[in-house]
Amino acid sequence: MAKRIIVALPGDGIGAIVLQQAVRVLDAAGFDAEYIYGDIGWEFWRKEGNPLPQRTLDLIEKHKIALFGAITSKPNDEAKAELAGELQGKGFTYSSPIVGLRQHFNLDICVRPCKSYKGNPLNFIRRGRGNTIEEPLVDVVIFRQNTECLYSGVEWTNPPENVYQAFMTHPKFRQNFGKVPVEELSLSTRIFTWKATTRILLAAFEYAHNYGYKSVTVCEKPNVIRETSGLMWKLAKEIQQSKYPDIKLLNTNIDAQMMWLTKNPEDYGVLVAGNMFGDIASDAFAGLIGGLGFACSAQFSSDGIAVFEPTHGSAPRYAGYEVPIINPIAMIESACMMLDHLGEKKICQSIRRSVADVIREGRVRTYDMMKMKGSPDVINNGAASTVQMTNAIIEGLK
Ligand code: NAI
Ligand code: MG
Repeated sequence: MAKRIIVALPGDGIGAIVLQQAVRVLDAAGFDAEYIYGDIGWEFWRKEGNPLPQRTLDLIEKHKIALFGAITSKPNDEAKAELAGELQGKGFTYSSPIVGLRQHFNLDICVRPCKSYKGNPLNFIRRGRGNTIEEPLVDVVIFRQNTECLYSGVEWTNPPENVYQAFMTHPKFRQNFGKVPVEELSLSTRIFTWKATTRILLAAFEYAHNYGYKSVTVCEKPNVIRETSGLMWKLAKEIQQSKYPDIKLLNTNIDAQMMWLTKNPEDYGVLVAGNMFGDIASDAFAGLIGGLGFACSAQFSSDGIAVFEPTHGSAPRYAGYEVPIINPIAMIESACMMLDHLGEKKICQSIRRSVADVIREGRVRTYDMMKMKGSPDVINNGAASTVQMTNAIIEGLK
């Protein structure tokens, strides 16, 4: 097979560190690829006034597949202050390049698997009958709509007159907010479209079908948020009845789901939600399987662009360590999702098996797995470094 071309986007802080480790594992596992490095992140904001230069977008457009580390975002005033002298005061405004990527390529499907590894000391445990301790193994894959909902950016404080008047046409707005001075109003809109909602639902059902999950759970709040959550639930029922009658369709409200999370997380398989609730549910489930060091993700557009990244950020505090200590597994797992997408089954299996073996054996554990507070000292106290963890995974490849 021809060499694959992968756009590698290291980004900032620990993003660059973990990306390098993932590439080492991919190479060692025999994935035949050329990595073309793309510019993204803080350095390019400072030097060019754009953290996501057009040349990077062009690269991704051309090669379709990107492996992304993480970026640093800072509040507007700090961002402006850090711009290179010659760019200051020229009207540059910072916006997150990862959000920019999602919007530019319409990466509307976000997949976040949360699967516990046997032997991970960070696994969730609970009390069972008779004071026993149980460790339910979680295997949940969250499908989060990635471009709409409360994250669409359609919002106002002190809305303009025409917007205000439009809201005033709604009886509930008039009744409950009609007397609030307009300058004291902040409005964020929750937008769901039929098309994007259908796409995320179809992706969730198709995944459940392909990977043998017995149920798809819609995690929204249709009893209260009747229009948007209601749309998702209605479409889910139609899709299940017409296309996937063998897959059970469940409905949980986001608030109740946060409670069920610690009661019976093993009962859920594929979960699907809008942007906001998907974000919440995926972080919550990630907490049960070890947190940010283990949380991987993939984002897909309708025209074949896919970006794979850990859910964690750039953790700048940990970026300058002489010996990096952060856990590379979330990034390595994200690379495995890329392999899944590319149909590289054997290579993917061998990496996943090795990660599972290293975790189960427990000889090599990064600081987070040892419940240590992050500092350079953790290495002296027995934690494995980032590179040692990667080495162990590479040694275990079969
Ligand atoms: P963060 O995810 O970078 O770090 C939070 C904490 O989680 C760290 O201090 C560390 O204790 C732990 N952690 C994160 N990754 C870990 C790993 N691989 N292994 C072990 N422990 C790990 O989130 P934070 O501190 O809120 O944000 C830092 C920067 O990252 C900000 O500028 C933020 O805007 C950005 N960010 C970027 C994201 C992206 O690129 N997709 C996502 C989230 C935040
Ligand atoms: Mg989040």
